[in-house]
Amino acid sequence: MKTEHLNSDQAGIAAAAAFLQRGEVVAFATETVYGLGADACNDAAVAKVFAAKSRPDFNPLIVHLADVSQIASIAEIPDAAQNLLSLWPGPLTLVLPRKQGSGLSDLVTAGLDTVAIRIPAHPVAQQLLRSFGGPVAAPSANPSGKVSATSAAHVFDGLSGRIAAVLDAGDCAVGLESTIIGFENGSAVLLRPGGVPVAEIEKLTGQKLGQPKVKTISAPGQLASHYAPDVAVRINAKAPRANEAWLGFGQNPRIAPGLNLSPSADLAEAAAYLFDALRKMDAICKKHGLQGFAVAPIPQTGLGLAINDRLSRAAAPR
Ligand code: TXA
Ligand code: MG
Repeated sequence: MKTEHLNSDQAGIAAAAAFLQRGEVVAFATETVYGLGADACNDAAVAKVFAAKSRPDFNPLIVHLADVSQIASIAEIPDAAQNLLSLWPGPLTLVLPRKQGSGLSDLVTAGLDTVAIRIPAHPVAQQLLRSFGGPVAAPSANPSGKVSATSAAHVFDGLSGRIAAVLDAGDCAVGLESTIIGFENGSAVLLRPGGVPVAEIEKLTGQKLGQPKVKTISAPGQLASHYAPDVAVRINAKAPRANEAWLGFGQNPRIAPGLNLSPSADLAEAAAYLFDALRKMDAICKKHGLQGFAVAPIPQTGLGLAINDRLSRAAAPR
């Protein structure tokens, strides 16, 4: 299959929606990362998403909608979720009790009685969802276990020839996946740190975010090793070792080949650059014959939580 490159103009968006209607898989930009979209009500289309990513099929997908009014036929909104709806559209995913008869493919929810819902803010994602008209199931547009895609070029790197098209809307502004919140015993719990900082959520719920007690799935995004470059990664490092390149943050001396996530120590800038930097560090290590790279400490505040979450999975034993 030749993967088509679509520009994010009217014609490109219409072509992408037509692919979705025909049961094909299309990658599209959101403000977090590129998603790999399929008609969430079409079993065969959703199966193609799992196949293109080589994703284990016990791992459920996020359902993307254009606005909150579309949730009613798919999921219930618990009281504890009400205050969080103001974060939509945006980099937030809520795991909600699933309704019967929603028409969603069972592959999307991997047999769970909950469904993950996200309403993205990116104008191109919004136009695509409105033009398609129904729920779009979309994981991040990368081969399973690998680094997420924050540009169309990243998507082509990993999935060219395996999907129908890429709807190119440039670089993703947030650069990290959505924050995923679930609900247990009437309270919000953090399933994955992401683009909305924990403090913003706690301000809206008026409560500390809990950790999930119920382990419903052991999904790749929640597995130890994920977001993995080819070379070794060592985090919270003071300095690179002889066989390492250096991924800095803030004012680090340039002591080895490498890059800096944000010379001014800006966490939003570091988040937006993270996945591109992980890909480039891979190439730098290979070019210099280095075994891996060391990463400077990232403060564990705001978006730093999500950055450290992704880095620790990139560094985990494979
Ligand atoms: O920003 C994002 O969230 C991107 C864009 C494309 O929307 N999507 C994304 O999807 O990161 P993915 O598939 O790479 O990560 C979704 C995570 C997975 O770890 C999956 O296990 C979890 O969401 N998930 C999906 N449905 C769930 C459910 N019903 N209960 C618990 N976790 C769920
Ligand atoms: Mg992913």
